[in-house]
Amino acid sequence: MSSACVLLVASTDEHFREMVRDNLLNIPNSKVAAEYQEVANNLYIRVLQDLERHPQAALILDLSADTETGIKALERLKQAAPDLYVIASHFHADGETVIACMRAGANEFLLQPLKRSEFRDAMGRLERAPRRGGAGESKLGKVYTFLGTKGGVGTTTLAVNFASVLAQRKLSTVMIDLDWIGNDVSMQLGAAPQYTLMEVAENLNRMDQALFEGFVTRDPLGFFLVGPPDALEQRGMFTEHMFREFATFLVEKYDAIVIDGGKAISDEVVMAACQVSAAVFLVINQEFPAVRNAQRYIAFLMRMGFSQDQIRVVVNQYSKKANAHHASLEQIQQTLNQQVFYGIPNSPVVLSGINRARPFVAQRDAAGEMDRLFRAFVDKATGAKGKAGASGQLAVAGKTA
Ligand SMILES: Nc1ncnc2c1ncn2[C@@H]1O[C@H](COP(=O)(O)OP(=O)(O)OP(=O)(O)O)[C@@H](O)[C@H]1O
Ligand SMILES: [Mg+2]
Repeated sequence: MSSACVLLVASTDEHFREMVRDNLLNIPNSKVAAEYQEVANNLYIRVLQDLERHPQAALILDLSADTETGIKALERLKQAAPDLYVIASHFHADGETVIACMRAGANEFLLQPLKRSEFRDAMGRLERAPRRGGAGESKLGKVYTFLGTKGGVGTTTLAVNFASVLAQRKLSTVMIDLDWIGNDVSMQLGAAPQYTLMEVAENLNRMDQALFEGFVTRDPLGFFLVGPPDALEQRGMFTEHMFREFATFLVEKYDAIVIDGGKAISDEVVMAACQVSAAVFLVINQEFPAVRNAQRYIAFLMRMGFSQDQIRVVVNQYSKKANAHHASLEQIQQTLNQQVFYGIPNSPVVLSGINRARPFVAQRDAAGEMDRLFRAFVDKATGAKGKAGASGQLAVAGKTA
């Protein structure tokens, strides 16, 4: 599809957002890629993240609720993403408002209430505008979300060891457990966190790095860890909106955020995590139910606007041997219509790590081949060492390189 009219829409006004969606219906090859219900100073963070997924997107920014805040948000945004095409919109088209918008970097102005013909013309100009290049390499931290397509496939294990390797590489890293039911991350790390996502939620409006690091748990490897409380009934109190606020804070302050999403892909907080992720790792094993579910997960993510290269299938406990109970690599790739990103072998090192309540990568050399292969996975996943990952891959992943 031509990415001619991919829009990000920022407005506190539901009616405005609806009008935009409605107007786009008549324009071929157009879509709304993201909506922001707030126009605040940190708008640029969310926009930058979405530009990674939709580098050709333009932003339509409704300034009518609070012109001053909106203009400031626009200035900040243009500093962060100078090439972003911005359409400002307001009820007032007096000289002062329009000039303020243009000075702040808007490329276009649309008067409200939106008129169909004017909107269409604006989209025409957007289409003809010089090709926009997205934000380029952003300085924001990267979010990596691990999702299991079945219980027990090793999602928590991979997420925990992934965060551990990043911390060993001196990246400032935060690990978030969003598996409200499993709540296993702290167990695998031998941590007993006193504070949880509930305290994060309570302190969101005054969150800063000192406060955050003051109350969350720090793993001996150096990364921070926060997860759900023990009480299951508190799940509903941590909302998608809270998660987005929290994630906005995190990507601004940390290099990497690693999330154990459990398997609840349809959970709105987990979906929000996927949406801010540089990569979503779908963890499967070779059992047919896991592969079948991976197919459903991928289809769902694609319907939610993800592209195939953001979704990375990782086969855990991979064995070359296929049989009546185990799908082969070829079968998996055929079923998923997608290459497998990486295969991680079965290894006793994993269980002994879990029994000692420490990630296996914390033992380094003692973990031998498993340690080496896992680090190569992290290399490939983060693009850390160019092709170095390729040599460390199993036969399984070698085919995909
Ligand atoms: N590569 C591996 N080699 C050997 N054992 C493994 C491997 N990966 C995971 N396991 C084992 O599988 C079990 C489940 O792992 P883990 O808890 O990480 O899975 P999960 O998908 O997060 O499960 P849950 O659905 O309970 O959240 C653990 O006991 C772990 O030791
Ligand atoms: Mg788990």
